[in-house]
Parts: sequence; structure tokens; C-alpha cells
Amino acid sequence: MTRWIWISLAALAIAASVALGWQQIALSPRGKWIETNDAAVLGQGRTLYDRYCASCHGANLEGQPDWMKRLPSGRMPAPPHDATGHTWHHPSDVLFGIVKDGVEKYAPAGYESDMPAFGGTLSDPEIRAVLAYIRSTWPADVQRRHEERERAARGR
Ligand code: HEC
Repeated sequence: MTRWIWISLAALAIAASVALGWQQIALSPRGKWIETNDAAVLGQGRTLYDRYCASCHGANLEGQPDWMKRLPSGRMPAPPHDATGHTWHHPSDVLFGIVKDGVEKYAPAGYESDMPAFGGTLSDPEIRAVLAYIRSTWPADVQRRHEERERAARGR
């Protein structure tokens, strides 16, 4: 009788750890994944974009004129966030890091940029909402290519 109790307890423990393990696998790589269909989040992202990003990146995500040419200051202009730019080339955690901590985080030491770090202004969910809004404006094939890069960055 006691033997059966021990066997069921062991089975339960195994089931629980498998379930927890799966949950971690399901959660961790998607932690900063910016995709959502949630209209409320996308609406919030749009409002935040208009308020904090549009002045440089353009009301229609078109970026600054001649965005590939250095400014007289030696710094780069703000690139577009639409399909013509390279925002979609970066996986979510890199985009998240750029907005939160600034471009310098990913650039060689001493790199100077006009892109502000928003870590002191926007919360993590707000940063994800802005990026989700930007992503939601991309055509389906660009979203698909972004997802491929996302998977490659996640290692699967
Ligand atoms: C004061 C102007 C300014 C504002 C405001 C601004 N940016 Fe930028 N952003 C830039 C510039 C300039 C760059 C290019 C940086 C570089 O290469 O040095 C950039 C680059 C970026 C990049 C990298 C794009 C790429 O293709 O590599 C992302 C992502 C980005 N900005 C997101 C945002 C978001 C989201 C907001 C609003 C929350 C925002 N930016 C607000 C100026 C700005």
C-alpha cells in the first residue's frame, strides 16, 4: 500500500517538474517578443509613438530625410521604422534594449547618437507597446521575415 503512495508521489513530482520546465521554455524566449494583436496595447503604442518618437522618426514612421547620410554633427539621422528601414532586421530584445538603454549599448565604445534612452521615461510594457505598434504597421511579408530573425536569435 505505502509503496503505491510513494510511486504516485514520484509520478506527481515528475509531472510537476515537466510542466514547470515547459512553462519556462514557453515564457523565457518570448519575454520581450513584441508581437501582439491586442488592440488596446497597439492603441497605447500608437499614442506613445506620436508623443515620444514621431518628432524624429516621422509621423508616418518615414524617418528623417537622407537618413543614410551623416549629419554635419557626425551623427546619424533617425532612420524610418517602416518597411524601408532596418528596424525589422533586429530581434525584439535588441529593439527593446535600444529604446530602453540607447543605441550605445550595441555600438563600439565612444559611439555618439541622437537616439535618447527611454528607460527613465517609459516603463517596460510601454516600450513593448510602442514596438508592437511599429511592428503592426509592417506588411505581412516583413512581419514574417522579422519573425524568422526572431527565431534565429532565440536559437530555434
Ligand atoms: C531626438 C530624436 C529621436 C527620438 C525622439 C527618438 N529617436 Fe529613435 N533614433 C534616433 C536616431 C538619430 C537614431 C539612429 C541612431 C544611430 O544610428 O546613431 C535612432 C534609432 C532608433 C532605433 C534603431 C533603428 C535601427 O534600425 O537600427 C530604434 C529601434 C529607435 N530609434 C526607436 C525609437 C523609439 C521607439 C522612439 C520613441 C519612444 C524613438 N526612437 C525616439 C532619434 C530619435
